[in-house]
Amino acid sequence: MSSFEKALSGHFYAVGVGPGAPDLLTLRAARLIETADLIIAPKSSKSTESLALAAVRPLLKGQELVENVYPMERNQEATRSCWAEAADLVASRCVQRQSVVQITIGDPLIYSTSAYLVEALMDRMLPEKIHLVPGISAMQAAAALFGDPLTIQEDRLILMPATRIEDVELALGQCETLVLYKVGPRLNELVALLDRHDLLDNSRLVCHLEQAGRQVVVNPITRNLPAEVGYMSTVIVRTGHRSW
Ligand SMILES: C[S@@+](CC[C@H](N)C(=O)[O-])C[C@H]1O[C@@H](n2cnc3c(N)ncnc32)[C@H](O)[C@@H]1O
Repeated sequence: MSSFEKALSGHFYAVGVGPGAPDLLTLRAARLIETADLIIAPKSSKSTESLALAAVRPLLKGQELVENVYPMERNQEATRSCWAEAADLVASRCVQRQSVVQITIGDPLIYSTSAYLVEALMDRMLPEKIHLVPGISAMQAAAALFGDPLTIQEDRLILMPATRIEDVELALGQCETLVLYKVGPRLNELVALLDRHDLLDNSRLVCHLEQAGRQVVVNPITRNLPAEVGYMSTVIVRTGHRSW
């Protein structure tokens, strides 16, 4: 491993750790996590554990750990103040010449808390000391699980949250593959929508993908879903517009 990049003192890294399995980390992510002085693990106010932390547990060997509990609600003020506090901590540790890694599920630039932290850090640190390390997103891992290409030829791919069902309905007409995140709270409405469009047979769902012992796969989606399907679910719909 010695030729891989170590976490540098005075630097910050937002590191994607993939969907949950420790062996779906990149080598760069693993090396940075192993060599960091401080690891910040985001944890939503509604969950009992940080999923990102579970994904890197085998790499924890005495690095200092801070769990940053963030509000799981649409409240810009609370969100920004939570990440401003985390940014103050990161900046002060970097001034003390420590290396700091924030771990995040999937990729740090896809619906990730890293975006808030990096934005807040831009006012506090030199940009050359802030690094983003890509991770395997849930979308990619889900596609691999189901074995269907996300795109070929001229296909259009839309990734969006299932938060507004009317937007999901519009998207069905605009792409060949639709990937939905954050489906938990809208599950019943989503199933009804897919049913109305006769797309249940073209739709697959995975919950807690690659998260030890918790993975639930529903393929194809049916009207009666298992009770344990919740927020940490991804749905892939083949919309039926493929022309070849
Ligand atoms: C805050 S976003 C994080 C996305 C992540 N940064 C990525 O690159 O995939 C959370 C949503 O990602 C999806 N997700 C992330 N990890 C997942 C997993 N292990 N299994 C299923 N869905 C997952 C779910 O749709 C969840 O609601």
